[in-house]
Amino acid sequence: MRVLGIETTCDETAVAVVASRMGGDGGDILSNEVMSQIAQHAAYGGVVPEIAARAHIDVLDRLIARALANAGLDISGVDAVAASAGPGLIGGILVGLTAAKALALAADKPFIAVNHLEAHALTGRLTDRLDFPYLALLVSGGHTQLVAVQGVGDYRRLGSTVDDAAGEAFDKVAKMLGLSYPGGPQVERVAEAGDPRRFDFPRPMFGREGADFSLSGLKTAVRQEVARLGALSERDVADLCASFQAAIVDVIVDRVRSGLRLFAQSGARPNGLVIGGGVGANGAIRRALTRLCSEAGLRFVSPPPALCSDNGAIVAWAGLERFARGLTNDLDFAARPRWPLDAQASELHHGKA
Ligand code: KG4
Ligand code: ZN
Repeated sequence: MRVLGIETTCDETAVAVVASRMGGDGGDILSNEVMSQIAQHAAYGGVVPEIAARAHIDVLDRLIARALANAGLDISGVDAVAASAGPGLIGGILVGLTAAKALALAADKPFIAVNHLEAHALTGRLTDRLDFPYLALLVSGGHTQLVAVQGVGDYRRLGSTVDDAAGEAFDKVAKMLGLSYPGGPQVERVAEAGDPRRFDFPRPMFGREGADFSLSGLKTAVRQEVARLGALSERDVADLCASFQAAIVDVIVDRVRSGLRLFAQSGARPNGLVIGGGVGANGAIRRALTRLCSEAGLRFVSPPPALCSDNGAIVAWAGLERFARGLTNDLDFAARPRWPLDAQASELHHGKA
Protein backbone atom coordinates (compact mmCIF):
# COMPACT_ATOMS: atom_id res chain seq x y z
CA MET A 1 0.00 0.00 0.00
CA ARG A 2 1.24 3.49 -0.85
CA VAL A 3 -0.14 6.77 0.42
CA LEU A 4 0.70 10.31 -0.64
CA GLY A 5 0.68 12.79 2.26
CA ILE A 6 0.44 16.58 2.15
CA GLU A 7 1.40 18.91 5.01
CA THR A 8 0.61 22.65 5.02
CA THR A 9 -0.57 23.50 8.56
CA CYS A 10 2.28 25.87 9.41
CA ASP A 11 5.37 27.13 7.57
CA GLU A 12 6.54 23.96 5.84
CA THR A 13 5.07 22.88 2.53
CA ALA A 14 5.67 19.15 2.41
CA VAL A 15 4.67 16.14 0.31
CA ALA A 16 5.76 12.53 0.69
CA VAL A 17 4.93 9.03 -0.46
CA VAL A 18 5.12 6.24 2.12
CA ALA A 19 4.65 2.52 1.50
CA SER A 20 3.61 -0.07 4.04
CA ARG A 21 5.86 -3.08 4.55
CA MET A 22 4.80 -6.64 3.95
CA GLY A 23 3.28 -8.02 7.11
CA GLY A 24 2.12 -4.57 8.16
CA ASP A 25 5.28 -3.65 10.11
CA GLY A 26 6.55 -0.09 9.84
CA GLY A 27 6.82 1.83 6.59
CA ASP A 28 9.23 2.87 3.87
CA ILE A 29 9.54 6.50 2.87
CA LEU A 30 9.68 6.50 -0.93
CA SER A 31 10.00 10.28 -1.18
CA ASN A 32 9.89 13.18 1.27
CA GLU A 33 9.88 16.70 -0.14
CA VAL A 34 9.95 19.60 2.29
CA MET A 35 10.11 23.27 1.42
CA SER A 36 10.54 25.54 4.41
CA GLN A 37 9.24 29.10 4.29
CA ILE A 38 11.52 30.25 7.10
CA ALA A 39 13.27 32.84 4.93
CA GLN A 40 9.95 34.48 4.07
CA HIS A 41 8.92 34.81 7.73
CA ALA A 42 12.30 35.55 9.31
CA ALA A 43 12.02 39.32 8.93
CA TYR A 44 8.83 39.25 11.03
CA GLY A 45 10.28 37.05 13.80
CA GLY A 46 7.46 34.53 13.44
CA VAL A 47 5.08 32.90 10.99
CA VAL A 48 2.78 35.35 9.17
CA PRO A 49 -0.39 33.38 8.29
CA GLU A 50 -1.19 35.22 5.05
CA ILE A 51 2.37 34.88 3.75
CA ALA A 52 2.33 31.19 4.70
CA ALA A 53 -0.89 30.45 2.81
CA ARG A 54 0.33 32.17 -0.34
CA ALA A 55 3.71 30.47 -0.18
CA HIS A 56 2.01 27.06 0.09
CA ILE A 57 0.02 27.84 -3.07
CA ASP A 58 3.19 28.85 -4.92
CA VAL A 59 5.03 25.57 -4.43
CA LEU A 60 2.56 22.80 -3.65
CA ASP A 61 1.89 21.63 -7.23
CA ARG A 62 5.60 21.36 -7.92
CA LEU A 63 6.26 19.49 -4.67
CA ILE A 64 3.50 16.96 -5.41
CA ALA A 65 4.98 16.32 -8.85
CA ARG A 66 8.46 15.95 -7.37
CA ALA A 67 7.34 13.62 -4.56
CA LEU A 68 5.64 11.35 -7.09
CA ALA A 69 8.60 11.45 -9.49
CA ASN A 70 11.11 10.69 -6.74
CA ALA A 71 8.97 7.75 -5.63
CA GLY A 72 9.01 6.56 -9.25
CA LEU A 73 5.24 6.79 -9.50
CA ASP A 74 2.44 8.73 -11.06
CA ILE A 75 -0.76 9.39 -9.16
CA SER A 76 -2.27 6.11 -10.37
CA GLY A 77 0.46 4.33 -8.38
CA VAL A 78 -0.74 5.53 -4.98
CA ASP A 79 -3.63 3.90 -3.13
CA ALA A 80 -4.87 6.94 -1.22
CA VAL A 81 -4.24 10.65 -0.71
CA ALA A 82 -3.91 12.10 2.80
CA ALA A 83 -3.56 15.66 4.07
CA SER A 84 -3.28 17.37 7.43
CA ALA A 85 -6.73 18.89 8.01
CA GLY A 86 -5.68 20.68 11.21
CA PRO A 87 -4.87 21.93 13.75
CA GLY A 88 -2.94 24.91 12.42
CA LEU A 89 -3.25 28.04 10.33
CA ILE A 90 -6.53 27.92 8.41
CA GLY A 91 -5.23 29.50 5.19
CA GLY A 92 -2.43 26.99 4.85
CA ILE A 93 -4.59 24.02 5.83
CA LEU A 94 -7.11 24.92 3.12
CA VAL A 95 -4.37 24.90 0.47
CA GLY A 96 -3.15 21.39 1.28
CA LEU A 97 -6.56 19.96 2.04
CA THR A 98 -8.09 21.27 -1.18
CA ALA A 99 -5.17 19.99 -3.25
CA ALA A 100 -5.48 16.54 -1.66
CA LYS A 101 -9.22 16.39 -2.25
CA ALA A 102 -8.80 17.50 -5.88
CA LEU A 103 -6.12 14.85 -6.47
CA ALA A 104 -8.24 12.15 -4.84
CA LEU A 105 -11.29 13.11 -6.87
CA ALA A 106 -9.43 13.38 -10.19
CA ALA A 107 -7.54 10.10 -9.71
CA ASP A 108 -10.49 8.33 -8.09
CA LYS A 109 -8.56 7.51 -4.90
CA PRO A 110 -9.75 7.48 -1.30
CA PHE A 111 -9.11 10.65 0.69
CA ILE A 112 -7.91 10.68 4.30
CA ALA A 113 -8.02 13.68 6.65
CA VAL A 114 -5.16 13.48 9.14
CA ASN A 115 -4.87 15.28 12.45
CA HIS A 116 -1.43 16.90 12.36
CA LEU A 117 -0.82 15.97 16.02
CA GLU A 118 -1.76 12.40 15.25
CA ALA A 119 0.89 12.40 12.51
CA HIS A 120 3.53 13.40 15.10
CA ALA A 121 2.16 10.90 17.61
CA LEU A 122 2.30 7.94 15.19
CA THR A 123 5.82 8.66 13.89
CA GLY A 124 7.40 6.15 16.29
CA ARG A 125 5.53 3.39 14.48
CA LEU A 126 6.86 4.49 11.10
CA THR A 127 10.47 4.70 12.24
CA ASP A 128 10.67 2.10 15.02
CA ARG A 129 7.58 -0.11 14.77
CA LEU A 130 6.55 0.96 18.27
CA ASP A 131 3.56 -1.03 19.53
CA PHE A 132 0.54 0.56 21.24
CA PRO A 133 0.19 1.80 23.91
CA TYR A 134 2.92 4.39 24.36
CA LEU A 135 3.50 7.92 25.55
CA ALA A 136 4.05 10.71 23.02
CA LEU A 137 5.63 14.06 23.86
CA LEU A 138 4.66 16.62 21.22
CA VAL A 139 6.76 19.78 21.43
CA SER A 140 6.73 22.31 18.62
CA GLY A 141 6.21 25.99 17.93
CA GLY A 142 2.47 25.61 18.34
CA HIS A 143 2.01 22.61 20.63
CA THR A 144 3.27 21.17 23.87
CA GLN A 145 1.46 18.12 25.16
CA LEU A 146 1.75 14.61 26.49
CA VAL A 147 -0.53 12.04 24.92
CA ALA A 148 -1.25 8.42 25.74
CA VAL A 149 -1.35 6.79 22.31
CA GLN A 150 -3.60 3.77 22.76
CA GLY A 151 -4.39 2.97 19.15
CA VAL A 152 -5.05 4.65 15.81
CA GLY A 153 -7.64 7.33 16.60
CA ASP A 154 -7.50 6.45 20.29
CA TYR A 155 -5.62 9.17 22.16
CA ARG A 156 -5.81 10.46 25.70
CA ARG A 157 -4.24 13.82 26.38
CA LEU A 158 -2.54 13.65 29.76
CA GLY A 159 -1.45 17.26 29.84
CA SER A 160 -0.68 20.29 27.73
CA THR A 161 0.65 23.80 28.07
CA VAL A 162 -1.59 26.34 29.73
CA ASP A 163 0.26 29.20 28.03
CA ASP A 164 3.28 29.16 25.68
CA ALA A 165 4.38 26.18 23.60
CA ALA A 166 7.97 25.01 24.11
CA GLY A 167 9.09 26.16 20.65
CA GLU A 168 7.40 29.50 21.23
CA ALA A 169 9.41 29.92 24.46
CA PHE A 170 12.66 29.11 22.60
CA ASP A 171 11.73 31.54 19.81
CA LYS A 172 10.78 34.38 22.16
CA VAL A 173 13.91 33.99 24.28
CA ALA A 174 16.00 33.96 21.09
CA LYS A 175 14.35 37.18 19.96
CA MET A 176 15.12 38.90 23.29
CA LEU A 177 18.76 37.93 22.87
CA GLY A 178 19.00 39.13 19.29
CA LEU A 179 19.23 35.63 17.82
CA SER A 180 17.57 34.90 14.49
CA TYR A 181 14.29 33.09 13.82
CA PRO A 182 13.52 30.24 14.36
CA GLY A 183 15.20 30.60 17.71
CA GLY A 184 15.32 27.02 18.99
CA PRO A 185 18.36 25.86 17.02
CA GLN A 186 20.16 29.17 17.74
CA VAL A 187 19.54 28.94 21.48
CA GLU A 188 20.79 25.36 21.49
CA ARG A 189 23.93 26.28 19.54
CA VAL A 190 24.78 29.33 21.69
CA ALA A 191 23.99 27.42 24.93
CA GLU A 192 26.85 25.03 24.23
CA ALA A 193 29.35 27.72 25.26
CA GLY A 194 27.29 28.89 28.25
CA ASP A 195 27.05 28.16 31.97
CA PRO A 196 23.69 26.52 32.73
CA ARG A 197 24.05 27.34 36.46
CA ARG A 198 24.71 31.07 36.22
CA PHE A 199 21.02 32.02 36.28
CA ASP A 200 18.61 30.15 38.49
CA PHE A 201 15.49 30.43 36.35
CA PRO A 202 12.14 29.10 37.59
CA ARG A 203 10.94 25.61 36.64
CA PRO A 204 7.17 26.25 36.36
CA MET A 205 4.90 23.31 37.27
CA PHE A 206 7.90 21.29 38.52
CA GLY A 207 6.66 18.65 40.94
CA ARG A 208 3.04 19.54 40.29
CA GLU A 209 0.47 16.78 40.00
CA GLY A 210 -0.79 16.09 36.48
CA ALA A 211 1.15 16.62 33.29
CA ASP A 212 0.36 20.20 32.29
CA PHE A 213 3.09 22.63 31.30
CA SER A 214 3.48 26.37 31.82
CA LEU A 215 6.35 28.18 30.14
CA SER A 216 5.48 31.86 30.04
CA GLY A 217 6.83 32.50 33.57
CA LEU A 218 10.19 31.10 32.55
CA LYS A 219 10.23 33.31 29.48
CA THR A 220 9.34 36.34 31.62
CA ALA A 221 12.14 35.51 34.08
CA VAL A 222 14.60 35.54 31.19
CA ARG A 223 13.19 38.87 30.01
CA GLN A 224 13.65 40.38 33.49
CA GLU A 225 17.22 39.13 33.70
CA VAL A 226 17.96 40.61 30.27
CA ALA A 227 16.57 43.96 31.41
CA ARG A 228 18.60 43.81 34.65
CA LEU A 229 21.85 43.06 32.81
CA GLY A 230 21.43 45.92 30.33
CA ALA A 231 24.02 45.61 27.56
CA LEU A 232 24.64 41.90 27.00
CA SER A 233 28.09 40.47 26.45
CA GLU A 234 28.60 37.37 24.35
CA ARG A 235 29.14 35.47 27.61
CA ASP A 236 25.86 36.80 29.05
CA VAL A 237 23.95 35.61 25.96
CA ALA A 238 25.56 32.16 26.13
CA ASP A 239 24.86 31.84 29.88
CA LEU A 240 21.26 33.02 29.44
CA CYS A 241 20.70 30.45 26.67
CA ALA A 242 22.31 27.65 28.69
CA SER A 243 20.40 28.52 31.88
CA PHE A 244 17.09 28.84 30.02
CA GLN A 245 17.63 25.55 28.22
CA ALA A 246 18.56 23.81 31.49
CA ALA A 247 15.30 25.05 33.03
CA ILE A 248 13.14 23.90 30.12
CA VAL A 249 14.89 20.50 30.08
CA ASP A 250 14.16 20.08 33.81
CA VAL A 251 10.51 21.01 33.28
CA ILE A 252 10.10 18.61 30.36
CA VAL A 253 11.72 15.72 32.24
CA ASP A 254 9.53 16.37 35.29
CA ARG A 255 6.35 16.59 33.22
CA VAL A 256 7.18 13.39 31.32
CA ARG A 257 7.86 11.62 34.62
CA SER A 258 4.51 12.81 35.92
CA GLY A 259 2.86 11.82 32.62
CA LEU A 260 4.26 8.33 33.03
CA ARG A 261 2.67 8.13 36.49
CA LEU A 262 -0.68 9.20 35.01
CA PHE A 263 -0.26 6.62 32.28
CA ALA A 264 0.38 3.91 34.87
CA GLN A 265 -2.80 4.85 36.75
CA SER A 266 -4.80 3.60 33.79
CA GLY A 267 -3.34 0.17 34.49
CA ALA A 268 -1.49 -0.07 31.18
CA ARG A 269 2.27 -0.07 30.75
CA PRO A 270 3.63 2.07 27.92
CA ASN A 271 5.89 0.35 25.40
CA GLY A 272 7.95 3.48 25.04
CA LEU A 273 8.18 7.24 24.82
CA VAL A 274 8.24 8.90 21.41
CA ILE A 275 9.09 12.55 20.80
CA GLY A 276 7.64 14.66 18.01
CA GLY A 277 7.63 18.30 16.90
CA GLY A 278 10.47 20.64 15.98
CA VAL A 279 11.71 21.03 19.57
CA GLY A 280 12.30 17.28 19.51
CA ALA A 281 15.44 18.07 17.51
CA ASN A 282 17.01 19.62 20.64
CA GLY A 283 20.02 17.57 21.73
CA ALA A 284 19.82 18.52 25.43
CA ILE A 285 16.16 17.46 25.58
CA ARG A 286 16.89 14.21 23.74
CA ARG A 287 19.79 13.38 26.05
CA ALA A 288 17.73 14.11 29.18
CA LEU A 289 14.85 11.95 27.94
CA THR A 290 17.24 9.17 26.98
CA ARG A 291 18.50 9.19 30.58
CA LEU A 292 14.98 9.31 32.03
CA CYS A 293 13.85 6.38 29.90
CA SER A 294 16.88 4.29 30.70
CA GLU A 295 16.22 4.85 34.43
CA ALA A 296 12.56 3.96 33.96
CA GLY A 297 13.36 0.90 31.86
CA LEU A 298 11.40 2.41 29.02
CA ARG A 299 12.20 2.44 25.33
CA PHE A 300 12.95 5.95 24.03
CA VAL A 301 12.10 6.50 20.40
CA SER A 302 13.53 9.69 18.98
CA PRO A 303 12.84 9.92 15.26
CA PRO A 304 15.49 11.71 13.20
CA PRO A 305 15.09 15.53 13.45
CA ALA A 306 13.74 15.66 9.86
CA LEU A 307 10.81 13.48 10.94
CA CYS A 308 10.30 15.43 14.20
CA SER A 309 9.76 18.75 12.45
CA ASP A 310 6.86 19.11 10.05
CA ASN A 311 7.04 16.90 6.96
CA GLY A 312 4.81 14.94 4.60
CA ALA A 313 6.08 11.47 5.50
CA ILE A 314 4.45 11.46 8.92
CA VAL A 315 1.17 12.63 7.37
CA ALA A 316 1.37 9.93 4.70
CA TRP A 317 2.16 7.36 7.42
CA ALA A 318 -0.81 8.43 9.59
CA GLY A 319 -2.90 8.23 6.41
CA LEU A 320 -1.61 4.71 5.82
CA GLU A 321 -2.43 3.64 9.37
CA ARG A 322 -5.97 4.97 8.93
CA PHE A 323 -6.38 3.53 5.44
CA ALA A 324 -5.26 0.09 6.65
CA ARG A 325 -8.14 0.20 9.14
CA GLY A 326 -10.71 1.35 6.59
CA LEU A 327 -10.78 4.89 7.96
CA THR A 328 -11.26 7.20 4.97
CA ASN A 329 -13.08 10.52 4.77
CA ASP A 330 -15.63 12.24 2.56
CA LEU A 331 -14.52 15.08 0.32
CA ASP A 332 -16.59 17.57 2.33
CA PHE A 333 -14.33 17.13 5.37
CA ALA A 334 -13.80 20.67 6.70
CA ALA A 335 -10.48 22.21 7.71
CA ARG A 336 -10.10 22.38 11.49
CA PRO A 337 -7.88 25.19 12.79
CA ARG A 338 -8.43 23.73 16.26
CA TRP A 339 -8.59 19.97 16.54
CA PRO A 340 -7.70 18.38 19.88
CA LEU A 341 -6.54 14.78 19.64
CA ASP A 342 -9.15 13.73 22.16
CA ALA A 343 -12.38 15.67 22.15
CA GLN A 344 -13.03 15.07 25.84
CA ALA A 345 -9.82 16.63 27.06
CA SER A 346 -10.46 19.79 25.08
CA GLU A 347 -13.46 20.49 27.26
CA LEU A 348 -11.40 20.07 30.40
CA HIS A 349 -8.35 22.05 29.31
CA HIS A 350 -8.14 25.44 27.78
CA GLY A 351 -4.59 25.00 26.56
CA LYS A 352 -3.78 24.99 22.90
CA ALA A 353 -5.02 21.99 20.99
O1 KG4 B 1 7.34 21.24 14.42
P1 KG4 B 1 7.91 22.51 13.87
O2 KG4 B 1 8.88 22.42 12.73
O3 KG4 B 1 6.79 23.50 13.44
C1 KG4 B 1 5.67 23.77 14.20
O4 KG4 B 1 5.79 24.62 15.10
O5 KG4 B 1 4.64 23.10 13.96
O6 KG4 B 1 8.62 23.24 15.11
C2 KG4 B 1 9.24 24.48 14.99
C3 KG4 B 1 9.68 24.91 16.38
C4 KG4 B 1 10.25 26.30 16.43
O7 KG4 B 1 9.69 26.97 17.54
C5 KG4 B 1 11.73 26.08 16.60
O8 KG4 B 1 12.39 27.13 17.28
C6 KG4 B 1 11.76 24.81 17.40
O9 KG4 B 1 10.72 24.02 16.85
N1 KG4 B 1 13.03 24.10 17.28
C7 KG4 B 1 13.87 23.90 18.31
C8 KG4 B 1 15.01 23.25 17.77
N2 KG4 B 1 14.81 23.07 16.43
C9 KG4 B 1 13.59 23.60 16.15
N3 KG4 B 1 13.77 24.20 19.60
C10 KG4 B 1 14.80 23.86 20.41
N4 KG4 B 1 15.92 23.26 19.97
C11 KG4 B 1 16.09 22.94 18.66
N5 KG4 B 1 17.19 22.35 18.24
ZN1 ZN C 1 4.11 19.85 13.77
